[in-house]
Amino acid sequence: MSRPHQNLLVLSFFCAACVVVCVHLFVFPLYEGAPRKRPPKFLGDYEQSLCTTNLKPVAVPAAWRGHCPRDGIVTVSQGGRLGNQMWEYASVWAVARRTGLEPYVPRCIRRVLDEVFEDLSVPPLGYVAHCPANWAGVIKAPEYWAYTNQSILLPKFAVLPELVLSWADDIRLEFKFKRKLAETSQRVLQMAAGRVANGSGADAAAPATFVGIHVRRTDYQNYLWRTRRAFLADAGYFLSAMDYFRSKYGANVAFLVVSDDPTWCRHHLVGDHTDVFVVSKAGVTSPGQDLAIMAACNHSIIDYGTFGVWGAILARGETILYNISRHSSTRISQLLPGWHVMN
Ligand SMILES: *[C@@H]1O[C@H](CO)[C@@H](O)[C@H](O)[C@H]1NC(C)=O
Ligand SMILES: *[C@@H]1O[C@H](CO)[C@@H](O)[C@H](O)[C@H]1NC(C)=O
Ligand SMILES: *[C@@H]1O[C@H](CO)[C@@H](O)[C@H](O)[C@H]1NC(C)=O
Ligand SMILES: *[C@@H]1O[C@H](CO)[C@@H](O)[C@H](O)[C@H]1NC(C)=O
Repeated sequence: MSRPHQNLLVLSFFCAACVVVCVHLFVFPLYEGAPRKRPPKFLGDYEQSLCTTNLKPVAVPAAWRGHCPRDGIVTVSQGGRLGNQMWEYASVWAVARRTGLEPYVPRCIRRVLDEVFEDLSVPPLGYVAHCPANWAGVIKAPEYWAYTNQSILLPKFAVLPELVLSWADDIRLEFKFKRKLAETSQRVLQMAAGRVANGSGADAAAPATFVGIHVRRTDYQNYLWRTRRAFLADAGYFLSAMDYFRSKYGANVAFLVVSDDPTWCRHHLVGDHTDVFVVSKAGVTSPGQDLAIMAACNHSIIDYGTFGVWGAILARGETILYNISRHSSTRISQLLPGWHVMN
């Protein structure tokens, strides 16, 4: 076929596709009584619709086989990466605790979290997939929940810090890192402490103070500008936050930097400092390992995003937070002791 014909063919395919999409989007919904999806009957019918990936089979433990929830349940849709899914999980956990309903998360969320944590208490929805979903209704927010025969389906990206952090110590116990991740983190910290002691002539046996730093850059630049007309935190923010901890803990402090942009961190945060260690390696270290390192530290410096917030929550110590208005992290800074906002 000659070139103009080919172009014409492509163009007509494109137009046909446009028409089909438009009809589906704008015309079909107008027909009253157009065939609607029948409502799901079993809990298992919901699970796939809550997941962004295809469900994998789940082995139901013997103890669960005869079990069905007596009342409504609490569950959530999957969205985002590790930090978001930790909030989704924790929000289900907390709403269930407040309401007394049974908590379940779709197995796709458990699959992500099981890579990082052990013995999570909230079971996958797949354990009760065979149970009838005979609820009186499904509510999207715990505020509107009125009867035990109603279920609560939290939206994806759910973040309920007020509720979750009213049990801050318990949620820290819930997110218990897998042994291998915890052991590797301790090795990384001890190696950093050894180098700091050697460099400063400090007593190598003296206990070091570890400060975890989360630097998020790559995908956040556009996001911050689009949503808040804000810029990424610059090196000055991290350097002055580090100086705060240096003046507080003296020579025996080690900074462990985790980031999606380790090259930027090496160029802008290390310089001739011998106490700064960029531990993330692009494409090599896992987000779970990075989070475990932050959690093993005593204090934190974070910028924005749920990942750094969880690292700081799990580390428990003092946290310095980048000043970004209307982000959930600023709400969290009012809920936890020792969190300070800095410009
Ligand atoms: C749900 O519970 C409320 C209050 O107990 C009751 O009035 C209502 O009839 C129940 N609905 C169903 C469908 O069981
Ligand atoms: C300690 O520092 C010296 C020189 O600064 C170096 O030769 C030595 O390898 C260092 N030791 C460790 C354990 O890092
Ligand atoms: C600081 O963190 C290290 C490594 O996790 C830990 O061994 C040490 O006990 C912590 N120090 C304090 C004062 O909590
Ligand atoms: C954070 O920034 C806002 C303006 O964007 C400012 O009003 C506020 O005082 C700052 N907070 C701190 C703690 O510096």
